[in-house]
Amino acid sequence: AVVRHYKFSVVLKNATRLCSTKPIVTINGKFPGPTLYAREDDMVTVRVVNHVQYNITIHWHGIRQIRTGWADGPAYITQCPIQPGQSYIYNFTVMGQRGTLLWHAHITWLRATVHGAIVILPKRGVPYPFPKPDKEEIIVLGEWWKADVEKVLNQAMQSGLAPNLSDSHTINGHPGPVSNCSSQGYTLHVETGKTYMLRIINAAVNDELFFKLAGHSLTIVEVDATYTKPFSTDTLFIAPGQTTNALLTANQGTGKYLIAVSPFMDTVVAVDNITSTGTLHYKGTDALVPTALTTVPPQNATPVTNTFVESLRSLNSKNYPANVPLTIDHSLYLTIGVGINPCATCVNGSRVVADVNNVTFVMPTTALLQAHYFNISGVFTDDFPGNPPIPFNYTGSPPANLKTMNGTKVYRVAYNSSVQVVLQGTAFLAPESHPVHLHGFNFYGIGKGLGNFDPVNDPKKFNLVDPVERNTISVPTAGWTAIRFKADNPGVWFLHCHLEVHTTWGLKMAFLVDNGKGPNESILPPPSDIPQC
Ligand code: C2O
Repeated sequence: AVVRHYKFSVVLKNATRLCSTKPIVTINGKFPGPTLYAREDDMVTVRVVNHVQYNITIHWHGIRQIRTGWADGPAYITQCPIQPGQSYIYNFTVMGQRGTLLWHAHITWLRATVHGAIVILPKRGVPYPFPKPDKEEIIVLGEWWKADVEKVLNQAMQSGLAPNLSDSHTINGHPGPVSNCSSQGYTLHVETGKTYMLRIINAAVNDELFFKLAGHSLTIVEVDATYTKPFSTDTLFIAPGQTTNALLTANQGTGKYLIAVSPFMDTVVAVDNITSTGTLHYKGTDALVPTALTTVPPQNATPVTNTFVESLRSLNSKNYPANVPLTIDHSLYLTIGVGINPCATCVNGSRVVADVNNVTFVMPTTALLQAHYFNISGVFTDDFPGNPPIPFNYTGSPPANLKTMNGTKVYRVAYNSSVQVVLQGTAFLAPESHPVHLHGFNFYGIGKGLGNFDPVNDPKKFNLVDPVERNTISVPTAGWTAIRFKADNPGVWFLHCHLEVHTTWGLKMAFLVDNGKGPNESILPPPSDIPQC
């Protein structure tokens, strides 16, 4: 294992997309930002220097951060923001993980342009558990607004309404040729007969996405830096925060094929049918192979997402076993959804809010981890309701009162206990799919279904043998997903919807995992340069 040092300078940079130019917040002037490479067991240090007028933090999405919560990054959860002119060194060791992850800003909506890939190679001499590809390619999917993204956010907060949709999706920073002013879109250059491993990342702000290559199928081998049983698919479904490694065999010989990215979103919420495209280009040939883009799934293609999600299984081999907790110490039932609250300062007198078990999370002004570690009282309470207070039909018609309670509440679990969480999507305002991300852990997705979770019959169908292991999972529209994880990492760990709009509205909570008793079980002391609020 070695130590790898990176420097991330947060700087403004002018960028031209869709015929207009605006300054964007970047790392080292790049969009997407630089790729962070490491091997399993390496130590990584990233010195982040903030040269812009916004507060910032960086999150290493999916890195377990065992005992090093100080380096996790969500603003006001594990650290105070790095203020203009200040710097902070993130220092962590990559343990027990290999594959593709992403890093991104974790404050307001800065992650729209402040994001990049994390590539974790296996330990030296350890092969992939699938045939070695000839080449690897990183593909970062994103969204582009012509307007300043922080203004889009602020306008939405003031109006109390949903924010404007993005103007395009992007592939490695390029909007597809969605209008004649687009510059050259993204091109993937291939040679006949070679295999490619695509490290695909969804860094979009608010969109779950379909990704598709005309005329070619993909073999999925890894998600969220955990190996899967390989399976072949025409269409990849990927939620924000998720990563997928897929093998592509360039077996079509000649020509150019379209690469398409389109959103998955329930039509009742908003119509967004922008398909952005790139090109897969066989070396030495230029003819566009007329394979239709009409094969991109429609915006509300729920069956496509279900088929994809149900195909995902842990590799569960001798070297990479699935260690699903078989007994449960904490069983939680969390309803997640959006509602409407009165708002005196909003233009419309009310605003859209989101909640977990009827609690709309209010961001504290001191980081929860600092408050916990230094015993600062009055920052949070540990009375988060693990089960909803009122029994009602979560997927039925709206109750008369959509009002949620505000609070900065955490749910406390003992170190090393096993936790089961049933995430139940509610349909009070509108049924939506929510990609839920848990910091600090990988979890197993042991079951999912439509409608209300049935505590008697649904557990009988749980997959406790080879469920997919990941850090971000989509809770189906008007349905539920069950996950399990072992709370073997002390600290304060954020759980939230990775659609930034829902996080902003309050669909977030945190787990507080107590220190263990053994010598290697407690949170390490904070670095001396940890930012103060
Ligand atoms: Cu990728 Cu809390 O986020």
